[in-house]
Amino acid sequence: MLEPSIHLLNKARQGHYAVPAFNFHNLEILQAIIETAEKQHSPVILQISPIYLEKIGDIAAAAMAQEAAKAAKVPVALHLDHSNSLQWIEWALAHGFTSVMIDASALPLDENIALARKTVELARAQGATSEAELGHIGGIEDAQETGNPDMGLADPVEALKLVTESGIDTFAPAVGTAHGLYKFPPNINFSLIEKICSLVKVPLVLHGGSGIPDDMIREAIKKGIAKVNVGTELKVAWAKSMAETLITEQEPWKAVLKVREAVGQVVEHKISLCGSNGKA
Ligand code: 13P
Repeated sequence: MLEPSIHLLNKARQGHYAVPAFNFHNLEILQAIIETAEKQHSPVILQISPIYLEKIGDIAAAAMAQEAAKAAKVPVALHLDHSNSLQWIEWALAHGFTSVMIDASALPLDENIALARKTVELARAQGATSEAELGHIGGIEDAQETGNPDMGLADPVEALKLVTESGIDTFAPAVGTAHGLYKFPPNINFSLIEKICSLVKVPLVLHGGSGIPDDMIREAIKKGIAKVNVGTELKVAWAKSMAETLITEQEPWKAVLKVREAVGQVVEHKISLCGSNGKA
């Protein structure tokens, strides 16, 4: 069943667990996410960024995700990840997304707030959930390598200003994680998570969930993270399994069954770290 992500996240905060949010890049990754969430009785957020929508075909990607989410036996939110334009926000809301993220974190604070406010307005008109980001989350979304994740942590005073003045539903502060594969060991600032969690009253999002040691993910959730984003690890599992499988199996439907299983193992592990199993 398709739901706005705020429903899943508010429930998670009350229950002291987090909702895993997985980026999907093709049909078999999408199916692996949904079937594993069903097996684990876990709510889940399916997400995709404009850069991927452009590459794999926006209309088809939105339609397959929406239909898969509607048919799922667990609550599923469909989220637009890292949009730096209001055009993509409007597009996503018109194509069945129940949650949208504006990423204006590279802009001055006032411009970030103004875009977040507009995103809130557009999302609310459709009964959808909004997300904004503050600070510099290392790495480049969907790239293979990351920069130094210590740079540009979110400032708590600015965080409060952004959340209060924009009315954003969920908030992604830079706390030391990075997108993609870590070049340097992650250095997550847990006291910053705790501080921001005590100041802002909306669910917090951890970006760059691939490659973070398990105990650090658990600690981040304890300190107040309600949504954990994971993308790269699914792509790595897909690529490795696809390469191995195609050596002996060239029938596409048979090959993808094996690949779905490999991606599903990563999904299952992240669900258990979030503690969302059994919460659907
Ligand atoms: P990773 O690709 O590092 O898991 O990050 C995913 C993410 O944060 C998407 O917004």
